[in-house]
Amino acid sequence: MKSLVTYYSRSNITKKLAEKIAGKTNSDIEEIISNVKYEGKIGYARAGKDAMTEKIIDIKSLKFDPAEYDMVYIGTPVWAGKAASPVITYLKMNEGKFTNVKFFATAGSSGFESTFKQMEKKSVKPLKTLSLTTKQVKNDDYDLDSFIE
Ligand SMILES: Cc1cc2nc3c(=O)[nH]c(=O)nc-3n(C[C@H](O)[C@H](O)[C@H](O)COP(=O)(O)O)c2cc1C
Repeated sequence: MKSLVTYYSRSNITKKLAEKIAGKTNSDIEEIISNVKYEGKIGYARAGKDAMTEKIIDIKSLKFDPAEYDMVYIGTPVWAGKAASPVITYLKMNEGKFTNVKFFATAGSSGFESTFKQMEKKSVKPLKTLSLTTKQVKNDDYDLDSFIE
């Protein structure tokens, strides 16, 4: 089965998880790179605002076409109870191309369910979801087996 892991990460937590999932599943990996600056304090405020308004932003061109994969794992940090705007942009750009998806998200503590609902609305129903706190990812305190099986 051909699989792809696509993710956005502002501060490398979701990235760390995405790389683990890609390693364990032998997937290609696509990092969504934002052309909008979300770094620093101003970037943080912009990120929250863009997430709340579900803004479609400018992202760098992609390496992989999700339509060519049997399974696409899509990962995001939770921003204000929503998916990060680069991920929403990715879903919008690839509308109609997803068949089997699984979602994963990292957050300080909460907002996973609303994030996954929003992502589902923009793509298809996920076969599985994985919610991990920033702390769990940092401490490698999780088990991927049931998510990737
Ligand atoms: C703009 C913004 C909004 C956030 N909103 C939430 C939130 O609603 N709930 C939460 O638990 N964490 C929230 N966080 C924390 C991140 O989800 C968390 O730190 C995540 O693991 C960061 O992943 P990353 O390093 O891949 O960007 C927010 C972070 C940012 C930058």
